[in-house]
Amino acid sequence: MKGVILSGGHGTRLRPLTHTGPKQLIPIANKPVIDYAIEDLRNVGITEIGIILGTNMPNKIKDALGDGSKYGVNITYIMQGEPKGLAHAAKTAKDFVDGDSFVMYLGDNILKSSIKDFVSEFDDSDFSSRLLLQEVADPRQFGVAELNDEGKIINLVEKPEHPKSNLALVGIYLFKNNIFEAIDKIKPSWRNELEITDAIQQLIDDGYDVDSFVVEGWWKDTGKPEDVLDANQLILETLKTDIQGIVEDDVKIKGRVVIGEGTVIKSGSVIKGPTIIGKNCEIKGYVGPYTSIGDNTKIIESEIDSSIVIGDSVIQSNKRITESLIGQNSKIITDKKTYPKGRSFVIGENTIITL
Ligand code: G1P
Repeated sequence: MKGVILSGGHGTRLRPLTHTGPKQLIPIANKPVIDYAIEDLRNVGITEIGIILGTNMPNKIKDALGDGSKYGVNITYIMQGEPKGLAHAAKTAKDFVDGDSFVMYLGDNILKSSIKDFVSEFDDSDFSSRLLLQEVADPRQFGVAELNDEGKIINLVEKPEHPKSNLALVGIYLFKNNIFEAIDKIKPSWRNELEITDAIQQLIDDGYDVDSFVVEGWWKDTGKPEDVLDANQLILETLKTDIQGIVEDDVKIKGRVVIGEGTVIKSGSVIKGPTIIGKNCEIKGYVGPYTSIGDNTKIIESEIDSSIVIGDSVIQSNKRITESLIGQNSKIITDKKTYPKGRSFVIGENTIITL
């Protein structure tokens, strides 16, 4: 079995962060979101992984992941070019898949549990596809599945106005090779995309069996800033304390905290876990809980919680920063004359804010 991770898309809902890089590289607990997909595949023994690249700075993905050896996998890059839908992306992987079955994993999805039970015994089964599903409160923004009593999928609709169930398609799919014939038969949807949902419906219409697997534990599609921050919280819940940097006297560390090499936590600071602070940072202030601070960041006399600072940034704010997503190489600097009530930011790379 092979792995195919989709890493294209414009990431419009994450602008301005995605003006300077693909959304799959946004760090969750200081690790690019796509790393979680690679590790999930590797942990079930899938080491031949094809990464489908789009047009939004694909070289940044290549630079970040390399040949895959640092993850213990072998990465093949596949160019999708202009994004024309998930089924179009899947089709570009046909030569790479080369007759094997494969897991297709959307590179901005994170799953708490492993895909181990999902992939088990698929190769030996008569199913042409198996879909990972989760019950959600509002399925209208997802692909939605309707099942029969045996858990076989009888109907699929992409973003229905009147969903027939509350079972959303998680962005992780198992396929055998007849998916490629189904993709060749479908037409673009109302949003002018070749939908994978339509291709799977085509399989069903052609008489093939499609299985379902309802996943427990959380799942996040990190397409929007609030979802990125939620995913950060959920991953940080699993953090284990590891302090490598220097913690000066008179610092309070509460709960589970990771502090990277070369980082200095200055006297008088409070770090409240779960919080991760990367390498070579200088921190003076009140950081956490639920905060990820990337490498080479300076926090000067500031309070920050429930946020992601991607890295190489300076933060000197006289008011607490909360629920913020701060792009690389940004500066937030307070003008001491103003004292507003509290602030919340989504900031792209190379930004300077003077308050
Ligand atoms: C895509 C799929 C949808 C699925 C979702 C999961 O939606 O088309 O069926 O439920 O991923 O994240 P999109 O992110 O393209 O809106």
